[in-house]
Amino acid sequence: MNGAASLWFTVHVSHFTLFYVLPQYVTLTADSRRKRYMADISSKKVVLGVTGGVAAYKAAELVRRLADHGIDVHVVMTQAACSFITPATMQALSGNPVYTDMWDARINNSMAHIELSRDKAAIVIAPATADFMAKLVHGHADDLLSTLCLARDCALLVAPAMNRQMWDHPATQRNAVQLEKDGVTLLGPVSGDQACGETGAGRMLEAQDIADAVAAFLAPKTLAGVRVLMTAGPTFEPIDAVRGITNRSSGKMGYAIARAAIGAGAKVTLVSGPSSQPVPAGASVTHVQSAAEMFDAVKRNAKQADIFIGVAAVADYRVDKPREHKIKKTDKSQLTLKLVSNPDILGWVAAQATPPFTVGFAAESQNLETYADEKRRRKKVNLIVANLAQSAIGADDNEVMLLDDTGTHKLVRAPKEVVAKDIVARIATLYKAGKKRR
Ligand code: C5P
Repeated sequence: MNGAASLWFTVHVSHFTLFYVLPQYVTLTADSRRKRYMADISSKKVVLGVTGGVAAYKAAELVRRLADHGIDVHVVMTQAACSFITPATMQALSGNPVYTDMWDARINNSMAHIELSRDKAAIVIAPATADFMAKLVHGHADDLLSTLCLARDCALLVAPAMNRQMWDHPATQRNAVQLEKDGVTLLGPVSGDQACGETGAGRMLEAQDIADAVAAFLAPKTLAGVRVLMTAGPTFEPIDAVRGITNRSSGKMGYAIARAAIGAGAKVTLVSGPSSQPVPAGASVTHVQSAAEMFDAVKRNAKQADIFIGVAAVADYRVDKPREHKIKKTDKSQLTLKLVSNPDILGWVAAQATPPFTVGFAAESQNLETYADEKRRRKKVNLIVANLAQSAIGADDNEVMLLDDTGTHKLVRAPKEVVAKDIVARIATLYKAGKKRR
């Protein structure tokens, strides 16, 4: 609401959801947080190969974004890459030694070119220069990174980054086609402003997009072909032309679940309230404002869904008759707004004759497990994901418990990307078990 023209209103309902700001949990440092969840989840290891292009500066950010996904990053840099960004930076961010040289004495048998990829799920080259792509196509092995790629027994993902003329050159285009024929996954490039001042194709994907694509590539395909309908973000219930009632929800958890489900092979339809989160690549997204609009979109898609996940913080009440024009300030000390209840979207989905496997969320500020289990039984949903409102809303980390017919499972605090993958894994297990019983 507009502060200068703030409204005093009396709420004529017996129940209204209040959010109060409780003391934030002690924020963990990036490093201790990383170590903590690394110890608790089975993380995947990748080699991040950095070659000598100006986009190498984005590789530092990429290390962080990969780590958000629970990926353990081991950096290998070409000599040219070291002219753009230092190994010390990459070592500090990844928490692992950085290798630049074939003859690095830290590898006992002097076989760095073989050893470094052996326990890795993939090698990711970002940025990949035109020259490095050409080397890959021709099987050159004249430095540590190119030799590592040739001697690998894991997947290779390549994020090209170069001037638009270099990318458009027939030689580079031929190389891109050949790499794909050789089973290499190309990530980008995209069109946009380039460091050289020109605009066109050849710009490296943003670090977040590369990290999401790598995580999706590595994820087990536990929901292959399964249709997932989900809601995320807050709703916005208008009061008048400029004001409204909303919930404090960033959409981070819901969008992370959408990405994790896509990574697991699901076909995701996301109905989202207002959120500044980037749209998950591969999702079909419908943007809505109010609970009524969200309900309409869910009703339109519910029949085609195998799984429904209601993550959205839906407003329990809306203003009965929102004013078309801005309510003017008067000298009266009170303004009364009549609120009426919104449809329970999750409850409606679960009550269908043949409902999809239905998952709800519960954000509580106290008695978490008791309230969440009561909600699970009342709404007749298969699984409830419960979190404390004060430690979940807006944060990058979350700590949740999962409640289903078999009991309560607690997950450790971790970045929302990691929590999302664990939630999706649990949903996939329960969904498949339910299908077998049917
Ligand atoms: O009862 P409560 O609002 O706390 O329930 C939370 C769960 O129900 C969440 O999964 C939320 O997305 C869903 N919900 C809904 N429609 C509403 C209210 C909540 O789908 N009107």
